[in-house]
Amino acid sequence: MLKSLLSVENLNAYYNKAHILQDVSFQVNEAERVAILGRNGMGKSTLLKSILGLEKIRRDGDVFFDGRNVIDMQTFKTANLGVAYVPQGWQLFPSLSVEEHIEMAYNPHTSDDEWTPASVYELFPEIEARRKVSGTKLSGGEQQMLAIGRALVRNPRLILMDEPSEGISTFVIERVIEVCKHMAERNVSLLLVEQNLDVALRATEKVYILVNGRMVYEASAKDFKADKESQNKYLGV
Ligand SMILES: Nc1ncnc2c1ncn2[C@@H]1O[C@H](COP(=O)(O)OP(=O)(O)O)[C@@H](O)[C@H]1O
Ligand SMILES: [Mg+2]
Repeated sequence: MLKSLLSVENLNAYYNKAHILQDVSFQVNEAERVAILGRNGMGKSTLLKSILGLEKIRRDGDVFFDGRNVIDMQTFKTANLGVAYVPQGWQLFPSLSVEEHIEMAYNPHTSDDEWTPASVYELFPEIEARRKVSGTKLSGGEQQMLAIGRALVRNPRLILMDEPSEGISTFVIERVIEVCKHMAERNVSLLLVEQNLDVALRATEKVYILVNGRMVYEASAKDFKADKESQNKYLGV
């Protein structure tokens, strides 16, 4: 049976008086890959930040992670429950090397599914070759790999990934799509935010669409792929 891992119920989010997310509800099940699609400025990044309580976002509603309501929880506590984040633009540190980013994030884990620095380097040999280099001196694609690797070694149960296809080559995009599938096979769920329809359809199984902070559409990736009318209506493609 499908078990819900993340359940967002009537989530509202505000920057000061600006009401950005409006009664947003959706779910991510265990080992499921879900995409939130929407044009620029629709509230996708705000949604991921609201789940973690990042920045100065005021939020109300309920966000259940593994049965616990995290809506009033501090970011590090929610993260420690098993939620990792790959931010838009990667947010790496110039003063830390590749290796230091990975070591700092590594959270040893007892199960067979453990992600270690070694298994991340195996997944992304490109960054292993650059272990001593500053995180921000890497190419865009390498920074994306490091940001994903940094999330995986936390051994999370859910990864929130914000527009991973932005600013990287088509070759690295293919790698990212493969990694998304691979991590779901290893029981890590994915909540992916994307503007790139093709990437979302290939990397996930289920899609939701945000328009002006409201969830307006929900379908399997397969059904949405065939639904050209909704693609045009909501995404203008
Ligand atoms: N830090 C902020 N302060 C005030 N408004 C913001 C902030 N970040 C985003 N917004 C506004 O919230 C809305 C949604 O933005 P965002 O979540 O970044 O959209 P998306 O990720 O879908 O492009 C936009 O109108 C944007 O201008
Ligand atoms: Mg965004």
